Amino acid sequence: PLSRSLSMTSLSGVLPAWEEAELPVEDLLLFEVAWEVTNKVGGIYTVIQTKAKITVDEWGENYYMMGPYFEHNFKTQVEACEPPNPAIRKAMDALIHNGCQVHFGRWLIEGSPFVILFDIGSAAWNLDRWKGDLWETCRIGLPYHDREANDSLILGSLIAWFFKEVSWCSLNVIGHFHEWQAGPGVILSRSRKIPMATVFTTHATLLGRYLCAGNADFYNNLDKFDIDKEAGERQIYHRYCLERAAVHCAHVFTTVSQITAVEASHMLHRKPDVVTPNGLNVKKFSAMHEFQNLHSTSKARIQEFVRGHFYGHLDFNLEKTLFFFIAGRYEFSNKGADIFLESLSRLNYLLRVRNDMTVVVFFIMPAKTNNFNVESLKGQAVRKQLWDTAHTVKEKFGKKLYDALLKGQIPDMNSILDRDDFTIMKRAIYATQRHSLPPVTTHNMLDDSTDPILSNVRRIGLFNSRNDRVKIIFHPEFLSSTSPLLPMDYEDFVRGCNLGVFPSYYEPWGYTPGECTVMGIPSVTTNLSGFGCFMEEHVSDPAAYGVYIVDRRFRSPEESCKQLTQFMFSFCQQSLRQRIIQRNRTERLSDLLDWKYLGRFYIHARHLALNRAFPDKFKIDPMAPLKTEGFRYPRPYSVPPSPSASIHSTPHHSDVEDDDDDEPYDEDEEAERDRLNIKAPFVLGIV
Ligand code: UDP
Ligand code: GLC
Repeated sequence: PLSRSLSMTSLSGVLPAWEEAELPVEDLLLFEVAWEVTNKVGGIYTVIQTKAKITVDEWGENYYMMGPYFEHNFKTQVEACEPPNPAIRKAMDALIHNGCQVHFGRWLIEGSPFVILFDIGSAAWNLDRWKGDLWETCRIGLPYHDREANDSLILGSLIAWFFKEVSWCSLNVIGHFHEWQAGPGVILSRSRKIPMATVFTTHATLLGRYLCAGNADFYNNLDKFDIDKEAGERQIYHRYCLERAAVHCAHVFTTVSQITAVEASHMLHRKPDVVTPNGLNVKKFSAMHEFQNLHSTSKARIQEFVRGHFYGHLDFNLEKTLFFFIAGRYEFSNKGADIFLESLSRLNYLLRVRNDMTVVVFFIMPAKTNNFNVESLKGQAVRKQLWDTAHTVKEKFGKKLYDALLKGQIPDMNSILDRDDFTIMKRAIYATQRHSLPPVTTHNMLDDSTDPILSNVRRIGLFNSRNDRVKIIFHPEFLSSTSPLLPMDYEDFVRGCNLGVFPSYYEPWGYTPGECTVMGIPSVTTNLSGFGCFMEEHVSDPAAYGVYIVDRRFRSPEESCKQLTQFMFSFCQQSLRQRIIQRNRTERLSDLLDWKYLGRFYIHARHLALNRAFPDKFKIDPMAPLKTEGFRYPRPYSVPPSPSASIHSTPHHSDVEDDDDDEPYDEDEEAERDRLNIKAPFVLGIV
């Protein structure tokens, strides 16, 4: 499969052409190293997991992912097996015979890639020696109390050792390392002069993340920070050194977006060689509007949850209720949860005075908790009891009705329900009385009084009271289909929502809005996120496609807040029909985010690394740079052209209210007209 892909790329005439005769394809192995292989923390897991399929298609059994071994992850996600390549078996055995545990298997995700997982605990007894080696190599010392940094050194030492063993077999090896936790692997492999090509990809810079979280005016001062001092003051100097050393050791350095490329040039003093935007494994449905049906079924499940959560206070119409959400690692201000909450308080006011919609907003951000709280669980139990009661009464009613009909009679409706039926119904209704408001959070928070979301909810007073048109549900844990409270996985949940809101201040890429896009769910992003900038670059009018970009770069926080409020309020003013049209358009952007296209940047980075590591063996055409520029999705045909900002082309609330489910509407016609205007296969102009 490898040779096929190489000849395909050279045929394209855009990607660098190999001198194919010289390429020992069959001896080339690709290893991709990341802390998040089989281990979910955040978006890097999504990169690795979604990219697996196209990488396996290209490399077959020559592709291996490497990361830390965690027993639970291995048991639940990996099928253990024997490595098919004797060189891998031999290298693993060398480590195992020296007392370090290494596990091999197929990761049970699409593409079923091979994984090699290193047991950090089993090798921890080497830590002091390896710290000494690191110091001797590059004068970086790691403090004993930084568990994460120490673990990354153990992983890196094991991986460099593994590569050393593989190198005896004179295979050509590419090592692709992700993020600073994989940094020691690249530093040690290079300093030991192991013959291999290396790529290092950063998904953020440590300093960028810390400085932004600390409220620095980051983007206006990129060239002014005293970076060593800043790292030292935040007690991350050693991590920063690992990151910077890895960046400079790698043959090829890449990052996930243009905005992070600029940041990296300042924070890490190396300009990335290639920008490798994050893709997704896009699945197209055979039926055009199947994703719209999935939206309805998932929405119905969320509605059920909401019925339970707000029991006794369900005085809003679920048919006129929209579901918004924010999700991701819990970095309060970096993820823009601060301006989101502020805008929600303004939206609450606007909806109270000017609209009849209700918005239920979910915050899905993991925090420290002590399990679900009783009130939330009780809500679902009460809902279930009402359902069961209705069902029991319905059964009895049905039986009596049937018996009467068999006798050729119409039953007496006044006596068809007896006293007992009324009693159980009344008891069920009495059980829905509550003396407190529906809870803001679904879990017992460990840091309840200092938690930033809860503190801000208290400040703005959004307590789910009857008058509020914006209701808040903070679910401080990632979603799971096995949850007893909200048994849905994240994908189904996203499909059931109306709008994802991700007003990030620091976001090198930001998978969450992209995931919304491919599922046909509109979202809010910003011009400080890699994804938002990518959309601005490739789509003429992102808002018309359901990608709202808040300006956090050139506007003050107050102005950004106003803009976000306006986006959300206009969204609430759309009719059902307008929302359907918009979801269709949103979904049509999927091609732009497919690894099928974006995977090419990874291919390019690998070729470049091979060329730099082994210039005699792997030649590259220097005249063929790979660019993302040059393609823009045009404005959808059906949106009237507007000379000004994209917000104006957002479908507007019509004067005539057409907010009913039965509205006849020819989506196909609209879709067809838009499609004629879009040349999706030529995405990025690199096919
Ligand atoms: N996510 C998830 N379960 C949830 C909520 C979020 O798996 O309940 C995933 C989501 O699919 C996304 C990732 O978390 O891929 C967050 O990645 P992103 O790049 O947006 O941000 P990061 O957290 O890495 O900064
Ligand atoms: C990091 C970034 C996020 C990005 C992800 C995957 O976690 O914070 O913006 O999407 O990596 O690249």
